[in-house]
Formats: sequence, C-alpha cells, structure tokens
Amino acid sequence: MTRPSPGRVGEVAAVATVSFTVNDRPVTLAWEQGATLLDLLRDELRLTAAKEGCGGGTCGCCTVLVDGRPALACQKPAAQVAGRAVVTLEGLPERQRRLLAAAFVAEGALQCGFCTPGIVVRAASLLNRGKAGDRAAVHRALAGHLCRCTGYLPIVRALDRAGQAWERGVETLPGGQAAAHGVGTSAPRYRGEAYALGEVPFVADLVVPGMLHAAVVLSEHPRARVRAVHVSEALAMPGVVRVLTAADVPGRRHVGLIVDDWPVLVASGEATRCVGDVLAVVVADSRRRARRATAAIRVDYQVLTPVTDPHAALAPSAPALHEGGNLLEACAFARGDVDAALASSAHVVRQRFTTQRIEHAFLEPEACLAVPGPGGLTVYSQGQGVHDDQRQIAAVLGLPPAAVQVELVATGGAFGGKEDLSIQAHAALAAHLVQRPVSLVLTRADSLRLHPKRHPLIMDYEVGCDGEGRLTAVRARLVGDTGAYASVGGKVLERAAGHCCGPYRVPNVDVEARAVYTNNPPCGAMRGFGVPQTAFAIEGCLDELAARVGIDRFKIRSINVLRPGDRFATGQVMTASCGVAATLEAVRDAFYGARHAGIACGIKNTGIGNGLEDTGRVRLRVLPQGRLEILTGFTEMGQGLFTILRQVVAQETGLDPGCMEVATRSELGVECGMTTASRATALASEAARRAAAALAADLAAAPASALAGREYLGEYVCNFTVPPGTDAVNPITHLTFGYATQVVVLDGDGAIARVVAAHDVGRAINPLACRGQIEGAIHMGLGYALSEDFPCPDGRPAVSGLKDLGILKAGEMPEVEVRLLEVPDEVGGYGAKGVGEIGLVPTAAAVASALRAFDGRPRTALPMRADAPRTLRRR
Ligand code: FES
Repeated sequence: MTRPSPGRVGEVAAVATVSFTVNDRPVTLAWEQGATLLDLLRDELRLTAAKEGCGGGTCGCCTVLVDGRPALACQKPAAQVAGRAVVTLEGLPERQRRLLAAAFVAEGALQCGFCTPGIVVRAASLLNRGKAGDRAAVHRALAGHLCRCTGYLPIVRALDRAGQAWERGVETLPGGQAAAHGVGTSAPRYRGEAYALGEVPFVADLVVPGMLHAAVVLSEHPRARVRAVHVSEALAMPGVVRVLTAADVPGRRHVGLIVDDWPVLVASGEATRCVGDVLAVVVADSRRRARRATAAIRVDYQVLTPVTDPHAALAPSAPALHEGGNLLEACAFARGDVDAALASSAHVVRQRFTTQRIEHAFLEPEACLAVPGPGGLTVYSQGQGVHDDQRQIAAVLGLPPAAVQVELVATGGAFGGKEDLSIQAHAALAAHLVQRPVSLVLTRADSLRLHPKRHPLIMDYEVGCDGEGRLTAVRARLVGDTGAYASVGGKVLERAAGHCCGPYRVPNVDVEARAVYTNNPPCGAMRGFGVPQTAFAIEGCLDELAARVGIDRFKIRSINVLRPGDRFATGQVMTASCGVAATLEAVRDAFYGARHAGIACGIKNTGIGNGLEDTGRVRLRVLPQGRLEILTGFTEMGQGLFTILRQVVAQETGLDPGCMEVATRSELGVECGMTTASRATALASEAARRAAAALAADLAAAPASALAGREYLGEYVCNFTVPPGTDAVNPITHLTFGYATQVVVLDGDGAIARVVAAHDVGRAINPLACRGQIEGAIHMGLGYALSEDFPCPDGRPAVSGLKDLGILKAGEMPEVEVRLLEVPDEVGGYGAKGVGEIGLVPTAAAVASALRAFDGRPRTALPMRADAPRTLRRR
C-alpha cells in the first residue's frame, strides 16, 4: 500500500481570517478560536517541518522565523501573525538549508530527528547574525530547545561547523553524504539530511483522504470505580462522528507485552488503576473538535483511596489492585553463603538507596494512523515492535494477526517508552468500527499520564570485603514500584537483580527483587532497564568500602572488576570479550589527574536473555533497476540501526548504499520482537550479514538488476540463555554485555566540568553513531543523577509538561570525552556489543562519587541536585 503523504489535518471551523506571508507567499487563512500559527502552518498550508512536541513552548520543535526572529509557532495565536512575514524551514535559503543539514549529518547532531527541524531554524538565525561559532550565544539560543537524543554536544559542533562554512561563503560541506559506508566507518545517517530538513514525515504529519481524528478521555482518579460513562453531550457536538467505550471492543479488551492486564478501555463497573486509564475515545472530523469533545464526556465515579506506596501495597490489608494480588513478580537467587561471608568480612556496609521515577520525554508524542482497506487494516506506527503491536491490535479487534499490518513510519525518540501499546489499539478500533482512516495524536499532557516510566527503586544493600578490599558478599533486597500495570516491570526487577553486583567479582550473592503494583503511573522499560538504579547502589557501597579499607576508589574497582573466567552475579562465567577492566584502565589518567573526580563502572546486558530467545531477522528484497529493500522487524528510533544495516549490506556485497531503502513492517518472516535490551545492532547486523552473504554469492554471477524479485533472508537466533537462579555449571543468563567506566570531574566550585567515558563496544560498526549514543545517554544520566523527577503525590503526576521534568539544557552540559574500546564479542555481529543503554548505567553513580570526593558526604538518594545546587553550571 502506498504510504500516506504529509498534508492537511482537517477542517477548522472558520470564525475569522488572517493575512500574512509565509516563505514570501501572501496567504489569507480562516482560523477558529484557539488556533495557533502552528495549526495554520501544519493544517492549512501543509508545511509540516515544524513539529508539535509539547504544545507548551518548551521543546522548540515548532520554531519558525517571524519577521526574521525565531518564534515558537505553537505559542503564537493565529490573530497575532496578521501582516507578519513568517519563514519556515521549508522557506530558508537553499544554501543555508544544505549547509546546516550537511553539518548536522557530519557531526551526528541528529538521531531521531524530531527536534532537529526546529533547531535548524534556530541555527539559521544564528548564521544570519554571525553567532553560530559563539558558544555562549549558541547555548542561549538552544535554551529554547530540548533534544533528548544527542546531549546537545554534537549540535553545538554542527553549528560551529556550519557557521564557519557560512562565513567562508562555501556552497557545500564535505562529509555530508560521504563516500565511506563500510563496517567500521562513520557512514552518514540514512536519510539524515532529509530528517534535518523536516522532509521525513512522522505519523502526525500523515494525511489520507477521508481521515478522521480521535482523542482519548483519561481517568480523573488513580483509583475509582466507574459507575457510568455518559457520551450523549459529546456526541451532539459539531463534527463528532462517534464515541467509543469499552462496550465497543469486539475482541480482547486487555493487552500487555507479557501479562494481559492493561485494559484498552475501562468498562463501567470496573475500577481504574491510574490516571492514564482510557475511559472513552472521541472520533471527530478534526483533531481540534475531537479533543474539545473529550471535555463533554461525563463520568460518574465512586472515588477510592489509591495505593501509592509499594511496601503498603504488599501489606495483607492492602486492597488487591489485580486479581492475583499486588505482587507482580519476584526474582530471587543466591550463590555461596552470604551470612558466613559477611560475618567473616573485615568491613561490611549496610545502606538503603532510593531512586526516583522519571519520564522518557521522547520529543514525539504518541501518534497512530489506522487505515482500513480491502486487505485489512494498515496501522502506521512509531512503536518499538511492529509484530507485538500487530498481535495485540488484532486481538483487540478480534481479528487474525494477518488482518492487521503495522508499518513503522518514523520514531521521534522512544528510549523504551514506546514498547507498550499506547494508542495504536484505540486508533485501530476507531478505524475498524467507522471504516474510515483515523489519526490519533496524544497531547503532551495525556502522553505523560499514559505511558510507563522508569521504576523508582528502594534498594537495601549489605556488602562485605576483606582487609585488602576484595569483595566477599552482596545481599540486596530490591522493591520496585511498578505502578498500575505489568508492562515489563517484572523483567525490569529481574534485570536489576541480575546486575545487583555491577561488573564485580562477588563469590557470595543473595538477591531478591520484587515488582509491586500500585495506583501510580505504570513503570516499564526505560534505557538502562533497572540497571542504572543498582549501579547507583553498588558503586556507592564500593566508595564507602574503599574509605573504610583505606584505599582509593580506582584501586578498589581494579581489585574487584570482572575479568575473563570470573562469575557475574548470576553465576555466568565471563568470556574473553569481558572488557570492563580495559575501560577502567582507559580512564586512569582522567581519575588520577583531577583534584575532584568521581568514578563508576558499568555493565549492561545485550539481549533480553534470562531464558528468552533473542532473534534478529533481516530480509533483502531485490527490486527493479538493481535497487534493494532491507526489511527488518526492529525499529529505527534514532539509534542508527537503518544506517548500520546499509553499512553491513554494502560491506558484504559491494553495492552502493544509495541503492538501498530500509523499512520496518510486520511482514511474516522478519519477526524480531521488541527493539529493546541494546540488542538490535548486535543481532540484526549478523542477520543482515548472513542475508547479504547469500546475495553476494548470486551477485558474483549476475548484476543486481538481473536478480529483481529475489529475496534473501538472514536470521540469527540466540536461544542458549537461562533464567537467573538456574542450577548449572555456567548459567548463561545473557548472550553478552556492554562495559564502561566513567569519570566525572568537578571544578574548584564543585560544578561538573568534564565527563570521561570509556566504553567497550566490541566493534564500533559506526563510530559516530556509537559516540552519539554514549553522549546522549550521558546527558540523560546526568539529568537522572541531578535534576530529573516525576513525582506523583497520591497517584497524580505533579508535572504537566516537559518543562517540569528537570531535563538538562544545552548550557548545562559539561564537556564529554568518549573513549571507544573494541574488545571483540563472540556473539554480536562483527563483534559488536550493545551500546544503547550502557551510556547512562554508571553516570549517576559517578556523579555521586564526585560529589563525595568534593564535600566528603556520601549520596544515597536520587536526584541529588537539591543537595548539590552548584553541580550544574550554565555555560
Ligand atoms: Fe533531538 Fe531526537 S534528535 S530529540
């Protein structure tokens, strides 16, 4: 099916007109009360480079020029642009567009690309003022933008590069669409320049004829019995086509990645479990009308007292939030004799550590377009797993999976937050029932309420060592608030348990981790998946033990760090690919060369493992004229997967990557499961290598143009892992791991001046992308350490927009130096290990270690900024 094109969103009831120029073209447009410049640009003029990321003037994704000055289009009432000259990214001078796009690609300054068009417009204004190389001016300009992927540092470098080229009067930049494209090269990002220029559509940009719009009604209470949902008032509103409630679901009403406990719509008579519960879906002829009509839905509630503390939820007297009680899952395993080891240890640390709930803050809110057709329903998505989406949507509709096709459009950031089904089933249900295309785009406020967060953990640790600092035993008791629904919360706590000792050799281990239901927002997958939490705890214990033994913090890590032949916490024997000691050695100079330095090591599994299969699948389809389609079930969400797949195929076949298109669709044969656990590159690159090798063999006998119609399937299955606690000589719980050591250096005032990050990535298939993943993760890790939070008093989020989340701005980012090491892996394609998550695993712990080095006080709770207000300095 032909994918819909960017275009008009829907009819806007006219109450007045406004005249202005857009990209030098005079326009007169009708607008209705509440319309903004962004509405006019996107809905009426089909100029979709400007994106709606927050609707609140925080993210900067909608930046345009008004009378030559940057302005946020979502904050400009339509009436206020009368007589003004508006320039969008589409209308910038072509030389400026090309220079900026090439600079962004060359510096790796875009990942998901959702924030990029707005930043490019801001950059154009800096070029016009000759300020692109002025670091202070750049930081001031970027203060109006959020980028959740890059950590801003490559954006600053790109502006510098573009500014120099602009001043020199050059027409193009070398290095944009560079010739390098094999494995191990920093090949340019696939469709990078198109992303930078806003030419790659995201789901909210898509339009098809006859399209309707949907909006959701969420619960007002975290726990309340729904007596009735009254829809008649909403149904009578202009443009409203239909209102859906639980009674309209023809198939299964509950979905879930592992446990089907999450109702797509809560039915009358049932109790809500969080303020993200959906009670109704309004379908109307415009997005504005659909959203407006949600306020007319009347819900009759019996309000109940919410359960918001995980320990209270485990009390026998607590009301059961789910049929099976409030304990979602427990993971426990032990090795050796912890009691005896602790009793004979020279030093024992006993400490409780706590971490906070945080939000992914991907810049693209959830969006879905569902289109019914003769062959079934096509769902255009931005989720992290097209096949899991397909399975769940089909179940909700009561259809076989083959009747639903899911196609990835583009993903404007995810970080684990788009693993669960969010509103795909609602859009699909509406389209299925009204038999018209339906687009559903969440407001930022609804997005914050609806999707899972990072788990807050309460971690009680006992850690012993001998008189020289050798670790003797770890006992850990972990409790995670998993919120209202299972999501993958049980697995997050299982992962936290498995990583409870960090990358250290511990002969005696006793761990128990429990994921507990509450009426807080659900918690699930987020970059790090439980491991940044336990890293914060175990690294804090190591710093304390070092102080008690009387050795320095580098030394205690050097004594204990895992080496080949040692056992990971789960008992898995580390192989020759274990590179954590190399990463530690790589930061020796940075640690000892600084007066106030913190240090932490990290380990993060690649692949889900723990007894589950990890599979990568890639199909190469030769098209007419020698073109090639690379199809996979994994999602490109900014991490660079599609670029890497082209590199692999180019490497094996010698074909020019320019002839290759990459896509993710729910076709049979390319199921990969979720794009999660830092596994897509390691698995898919090997699958692509296998497929490409078969193609290369045929290419030896015939040109690609003669092979049109042929397909080559590459599959890589890793099915040799076992669950933690398995009694085996070598219980392999994960197919492999990534490793890191980070040093955080403070200046004389206690502000973070520099982060040095040494990472063993196995093989850097694309070094630029690798560095980008690590820099971006460190930005996220610093925010996690210091400022990010998502408090929910009484089960209600105390934040309403991106501005409240504590995300670091560009001017708050310190210098970051990434040192890539390549200790080849035995399993990952080309020796690659996962790099998507490890970048932030040690960061918060390293910051805590640095603060302790500065003022002598250990930190045991995140975030830490209130306790160290000068740690972040605006530059
Ligand atoms: Fe900036 Fe993704 S590239 S938010």
